[in-house]
Amino acid sequence: MNDRLVAAGSVDDDAQYDAGLRPRSLAEYIGQDRVRDNLEVSIAAARGRKEALDHVLLYGPPGLGKTTLAYVVGNELGVAVRATAGPVIERAGDLAAMLTNLQQHEVLFIDEIHRLAPAIEEILYPAMEDYELDIVIGQGPSARSVKVPLQKFTLIGATTRAGLLTAPLRARFGIVHRLDFYTEADIEVIVRRSARILAVPIDDEAAVEVSRRSRGTPRIANRLLRRVRDFAQVRADGRITGGVARDALKLLEVDDHGFDEVDRKLLRTIIDKFSGGPVGVNSIAAAINEEKDAIEDIYEPFLIQAGFLDRTPRGRVATARAYEYFGLTAPGRDSGLW
Ligand SMILES: Nc1ncnc2c1ncn2[C@@H]1O[C@H](COP(=O)(O)OP(=O)(O)O)[C@@H](O)[C@H]1O
Ligand SMILES: [Mg+2]
Repeated sequence: MNDRLVAAGSVDDDAQYDAGLRPRSLAEYIGQDRVRDNLEVSIAAARGRKEALDHVLLYGPPGLGKTTLAYVVGNELGVAVRATAGPVIERAGDLAAMLTNLQQHEVLFIDEIHRLAPAIEEILYPAMEDYELDIVIGQGPSARSVKVPLQKFTLIGATTRAGLLTAPLRARFGIVHRLDFYTEADIEVIVRRSARILAVPIDDEAAVEVSRRSRGTPRIANRLLRRVRDFAQVRADGRITGGVARDALKLLEVDDHGFDEVDRKLLRTIIDKFSGGPVGVNSIAAAINEEKDAIEDIYEPFLIQAGFLDRTPRGRVATARAYEYFGLTAPGRDSGLW
């Protein structure tokens, strides 16, 4: 799943380019206007009061700019960002060490925060709420708890789905923002900006072609741009024109909607095996041999926002658009179901 071109999760060679293409300030951060405006106010207020910014939870599908935003916030606050990730922290001591090393008002970024082990997550509660660590010394009846004060810091947590967070953890974030898929217009701005940074000429038509197929996701837009750039360099004169972009994307087998095999298989399965739905996500996962989480985090959100899939209380339903996409006619929905 990870090697698909339109995967929103990061793929190996993204990393070396990510650093260069990442916006560093709120002004450079394109789209997500509501989130940006809100953060701008929160940051200015915290700076004005010379306080630590409230803890921030960012959630949304992969590749939309959560990690980028965490570093942007650190930059705007003028403080260092220490980064880690839920699955990486194995022992309570590791997290305690990170927390005690934080300087005043610094940012601790925990990616995939929903994957923290429960015993480790509990350390965060007093740390976030009272800026202190509760450490238990000794065992049995003689055990006693010692409080260690921490500097006032900001925790920024990122997760693909806020619903996976425990209630006590979620409640401790004062600022919660959901990142949404970008509009095609915003993705176009991102594509042009990235092309400028990569020093590759791209015309308007080509910028539109790449943006349309990027699933509203900056990470995918940047990845497609790099592949198209390779094509332009090897099969053309280095410039990305509309024609070059179309030929490249055709060779890469990225279709008009940015769908790939899994998207098509998912829709086709609902249509063919489950008569268009409603069908539960577990049944879909079993039928197409993908993880339920991957379906809910990665595939489904985009298909829903693009209007190919509906989520109903009784399960997932393929929309008329999905039928159309395969050149099929949607069955009448007057069978008492609707
Ligand atoms: N708002 C944005 N403007 C421009 N580029 C962006 C924006 N958000 C993300 N990107 C680009 O997309 C890539 C993936 O973003 P990232 O923050 O790693 O996503 P996430 O952490 O949500 O998976 C970044 O390397 C960056 O180049
Ligand atoms: Mg990330």
